[in-house]
Amino acid sequence: MKDIVAIYPGSFDPVTNGHLDLIHRGSKLFDKLIVAIARNLDKGEPLFSLPERKEMLEAMTSQLNNVSIDTFEGLLVSYCIKKNANAVLRGIRAISDYEFELQMALMNRKMEPRVETVFMMPAEQYSYLSSRIVREIAKLGGPLTGLVPQMVEERVRERIEQRHISATGKHLL
Ligand code: PNS
Repeated sequence: MKDIVAIYPGSFDPVTNGHLDLIHRGSKLFDKLIVAIARNLDKGEPLFSLPERKEMLEAMTSQLNNVSIDTFEGLLVSYCIKKNANAVLRGIRAISDYEFELQMALMNRKMEPRVETVFMMPAEQYSYLSSRIVREIAKLGGPLTGLVPQMVEERVRERIEQRHISATGKHLL
């Protein structure tokens, strides 16, 4: 049997407990899992830079020996070939994710038939969780307990506070 190298791509802005749940599941299934943070130009200004997102992911996965963290630009399938990866891992939380994920998986397969997409479900308690919702709750001063690791929560609050002060000259809370 050949070694299965999988890429888990995403924006991870910031990494959530749902992402970490999927990384743990993926690390058990694949020989090697590369978490690949995309420079996503479509999504507007990110909360964290690529190096900051990488640093947080590295800190959260340091105990997983077959997991590494990287960043990439351009087409995901080109990055997969560069890394000799045979699979892309994506999480599906609810039916609403399926349509977009199917489109992306089929388009990636059309461009590069050597790479298969594998879908996994995170634990049920993370089925409503996303980085976008975490950013929104944090901006509105809501609790992030259980949604992101404590270290990430502190970084998110700090960044939102900094942004608020530079935009208004005032403290958030
Ligand atoms: O966390 P996200 O934002 O859902 O991740 C989306 C991501 C980064 C996986 C997707 O936008 C992507 O693969 N971007 C790389 C560019 C690419 O290959 N686009 C064609 C997809 S069919």
